[in-house]
Order: sequence, then C-alpha cells, then structure tokens
Amino acid sequence: MIQNTTSDQVAEAIEDDELNAFLETSQEENFGVSTSPVKRNLHIQPYHPLSFIRQNIVSFLYKKFVGRTGNPIFSVYDNLSPVVSVEQNFDSLITPATHPSRDKSDCYYINHKYLLRGHTTAHQSELINMGLNNFLVVGDVYRRDEIDTSHYPVFHQADAVRICTQEEVISRQFPTPVPWARVAALKTSTDVLAHVVPKRAEVMFQVFRRVPNGEALQVFEKSGMRTEDKQQEHTLEATKLMETELKSTLLCLAQSLLGQGLVHRWVATTFPFTHPSWELEVLHKDKWVELLGCGIMEHAILHKAGAGDRIGWAFGVGLERMAMIIYDIPDIRLFWSTDSGFLCQFNNKTANDVIKYKAVSMYPQCINDISFWLPEDRLYSPNDFYDLVRSIAGDIVEQISLVDEFVHPKTQRTSHCYKLVYRHMEKTLTQEEVNVMHRLIEQAVDKELHGIVR
Ligand code: DAH
Repeated sequence: MIQNTTSDQVAEAIEDDELNAFLETSQEENFGVSTSPVKRNLHIQPYHPLSFIRQNIVSFLYKKFVGRTGNPIFSVYDNLSPVVSVEQNFDSLITPATHPSRDKSDCYYINHKYLLRGHTTAHQSELINMGLNNFLVVGDVYRRDEIDTSHYPVFHQADAVRICTQEEVISRQFPTPVPWARVAALKTSTDVLAHVVPKRAEVMFQVFRRVPNGEALQVFEKSGMRTEDKQQEHTLEATKLMETELKSTLLCLAQSLLGQGLVHRWVATTFPFTHPSWELEVLHKDKWVELLGCGIMEHAILHKAGAGDRIGWAFGVGLERMAMIIYDIPDIRLFWSTDSGFLCQFNNKTANDVIKYKAVSMYPQCINDISFWLPEDRLYSPNDFYDLVRSIAGDIVEQISLVDEFVHPKTQRTSHCYKLVYRHMEKTLTQEEVNVMHRLIEQAVDKELHGIVR
C-alpha cells in the first residue's frame, strides 16, 4: 500500500508552522548565507551550473534507457519537498536505529518525526511503492557539517533507481529475444552465453567467472547465502548482471560529463540500503575524488515497498562535486552566490557549453551606463563595442551587457545603451577612478567606432 502521506503532503502539513519556526530559530546558523537555502532550488534555477549538471544527468538517462518505442523510461522528480519523515530518510531504507547518520549532531531535525532530508535516497521507497520502476530524484540535501571550500551543510544530489523483474534482467543481456525455456534448459551460464551471445561471450565470461556450474540463470534463490558479493535472496548471476549494468552506466555517465579521458576506480563500501555497494572515485588534480555511491538495493527495502519480485540497482551522485570539476569552481560556497559576477558566467549558456569559471573579485562593483547613437557610415555589431571596452579597460570591466535599444522615430537612428560593471580583483575601485576609465571609453566610441555618445 502507498504510505498515507506523500512527502509533499508532509511538507504542506508542516510547512506553515513548524518549518517556518524551525527556519526562524535556526537563523543564526542559516548555513552561513543571508537567506535560507531551503526553497532556493538551485538545481532548477535557469542557467545555474547545478541545473546544467541536473540536465546532463537527465538527458543521459533519457538517452540510455528507452522503451520499446524509443521513449525514455526514467521519470524525474526534481521538486519534492526537502522536509521528510524519519521513516522516509532512515527506516524505509532499513538504516539501523543506532546508525551514526541518524545522530542529532549530523541532521537538521525539525522535530522528533521530521527532518530536512540528509539524502535524496529518502524518496526511494515511496516512489517504488507508487509503482515506479525507473526514476531519478534530484534535490537539495542537508547535513550538519563544517564549512570550508568543499563542505557545506546544504548540497544537491541526484538519486536514481532501476528495478527489474527476472525477465527484464535476463532479456537485457541478449540482443535478440530468446525464449526463457531455451535459456533455462542450458546447463551453465557459460553455456548460455556461448549459445546465445557468442559475440559477447568473452566479456560476459568475466562477469560469470565465479558462477558455479550447473546453475540455471535465475534472479532469486531460496537457500542462498549472503556473501560479500551478493545478498541472500539473489543469485550471483543476477547480481553480477545488475552490477555490470550499474557500473557501465555510471562510468558512461561520468565520462559523458567529465570527459572520456577520465581515470577512475571502484571502491567497495557499505550503505545500509545496498549490498554489495561501491563508490566511484575519479582522479582530479592528483587527488581521488568520490563522485557517487551505488549498489544493489537491499531486497528487504523492495519487499517492504511492494516490489518483492524485483532486483534493483541505485546510485546517488553529488551535483556540486561534478560541477566543481567540470566548471573549475574552486569553492562550494560559490554555488549560493547571488553576485552577478558569478551568475553571468553561466547566463544564457547551455548544459552542453564548455565553461571554465573565472574568479570573481571580492571587492564591490561599480556600475556605469553608456548610451550612444550607432555609426551611420559603417556596419556596427555590439562585439565591436565589447572589443573596444576590453582593449581600454581590460579586466577591470567584469561584465558588459546591452540593456536597451532605441530607434529615433524621426531620424531613424539607432541608439544602444550598455551597462558596464567595473570591478578590480585586488582593490576597491573609487567612483572617480571608474569615471576616468569610463570617459576614455566614451572618447574611443566617438573616435574609433564613429558613434555619438548621448
Ligand atoms: N545516499 C548515499 C549518500 O548520500 C548515496 C547513495 C548510495 C545513494 C547508494 C544510493 C545508493 O541510491 O544506492 O551518501
């Protein structure tokens, strides 16, 4: 049965009174930023770098996993409330009562029953319970933590789940549909591979190297044992098939975002909700960086959520980690910046653009406008003006944007107005210094562009 409160109902019930009270009383530890990060939803803000990462993960899954008619089979939830119950965040994921992740010192508890989610994994059980088999949850997550260049108590995750029945696990390995009876009749999994997929046999042989002879390909087994490679309920073959798909999916995802030349390693780990479990680490600037956690979902979770006939894999990836590597962003706090010096570097870009972040000055901006009639004796493009400004003011001009265009009704002459944001990397610019520079630009507009400053 579906739990009687969905996370959004929970959020509604709690939002007006307790959540607001919680946010107010925790003002002093407003995570170090001036406005509360709850509801900022950076991952769905247009042109925000975290939004680009979300879009890339979504497009990757849409492309990789398609149904019979080529339709994407993953559904995406990127706006679920971050207020979840203790049941959702921990119990539904069979996190032991004594697990350190439940500690008051690590979580933002609102009361004894609700907290700000510590991971987007908190929604898995509920969505499975609602009948979904392939889905992605993207959102903000909250953990009490120190604050430094790579730690911040609010960050963003994308959490994916894929659960399959026996038929789906088996058939996905075969290029052409093979009757299950024929597969089952073959004695060993190596036989199966040799008969049915000779081309892939070598690859698959690796996967199956530890499968004992004489076992037919099955997802579940009755008197199995939990080992370091698998759960009690699952056969080793099924686990390995899932592991293969999981790891190849994640490696492709990482390569598509971070580049083909990526150096990676899989590190075995433990999570309460998966077994076996791994972390994917990538080499970045001579250091191993943990990108994501993943594993084969604990059968007890699926069983409890009404999907006991399925085996599944899941992963959770940190968006900030990815974005910091991809865009060269040196400090995790920058994602919360409302400084136009930061935001303009992503503005009007797309998730596919190559963007390398340039440090923004800590000193204040000085903003001056310039308006001029465009030259009549030659062609003009705003790029001419941008180049001119750069050649005169260099890096002191942080941003230039065309803010207004006007055609005189009588003369038909066109006028442009540009906003220039001045800012120095090493000092506060005085208005007088800026005015001197601005005047030089005005003179050059007259002289070099043949514009008439208004
Ligand atoms: N929730 C884990 C974390 O925040 C990441 C994770 C690991 C998510 C394994 C998963 C998973 O869905 O299967 O560190």
